[in-house]
Amino acid sequence: MAIMKQCSILIFTLSFLFFSHLLCSAESPAAAPAPPGPPDIIKILKKANQYTIFIRLLKSTQVTDRLVGELRDPDDGKTIFAPTDKAFSNMKSGSLNSLNDEQSVQLVLYHVVPIYIPLDQFQTVSNPMMTQAGDSGDGEFPLNVTTAGNAVTLMTGMTKTRIAGTIYSDGQLAIYRVDQVLEPMQIFAAKSSGPAPAPGKSRKGAEKSKAWSLALHNLALFAVSVIAFALSL
Ligand SMILES: *[C@@H]1O[C@H](CO)[C@@H](O)[C@H](O)[C@H]1NC(C)=O
Repeated sequence: MAIMKQCSILIFTLSFLFFSHLLCSAESPAAAPAPPGPPDIIKILKKANQYTIFIRLLKSTQVTDRLVGELRDPDDGKTIFAPTDKAFSNMKSGSLNSLNDEQSVQLVLYHVVPIYIPLDQFQTVSNPMMTQAGDSGDGEFPLNVTTAGNAVTLMTGMTKTRIAGTIYSDGQLAIYRVDQVLEPMQIFAAKSSGPAPAPGKSRKGAEKSKAWSLALHNLALFAVSVIAFALSL
């Protein structure tokens, strides 16, 4: 009988801990004071008007979430080349839609340089420039810059275009307008040699099943606690 009692006390304690944990984890986000946020890239682009396709890509690839996180670290400046809607409409028809998930992410990240470069500092950049898409080797994601006076020209090996204006610049984040989509060799030079595999999809699947097993685990824990709680009464 004593064992039975001890056992129900233990079970009661466990379920109490479980429920208080639930309460705590529900409350903790509100308790943390909101740090001063980094500049809102989407808002800046919306205000500048002609960037609806780039905004859509930034969101659908979740690159903005990533950039917001990285911009919280004051050491991580960024330079973004934002192609206008007209730039996207000038792409070879269907080429944007033919990209798989991973290539879409790469295309967006190719327009992001992981340092802040003021407009008058592009002559100090060494070629090829490193973007956030990946390696800057030939045939991968190289991005070259040449300057002549105020003119800054960007070359990908597929695309050659000038920086057409400054949308935003605050000493940590610079957003420049480009009138052509920067097409990386890795994606667009290989286009003719058949469709690339889509590892982006399988990764998504893995994440989904991980989320599922976590949900099942929580459900099981919850059921056990409910039973334990009922027994302890
Ligand atoms: C970029 O510049 C490097 C170094 O000057 C050169 O080797 C490379 O071919 C250039 N690539 C492109 C795509 O312009």
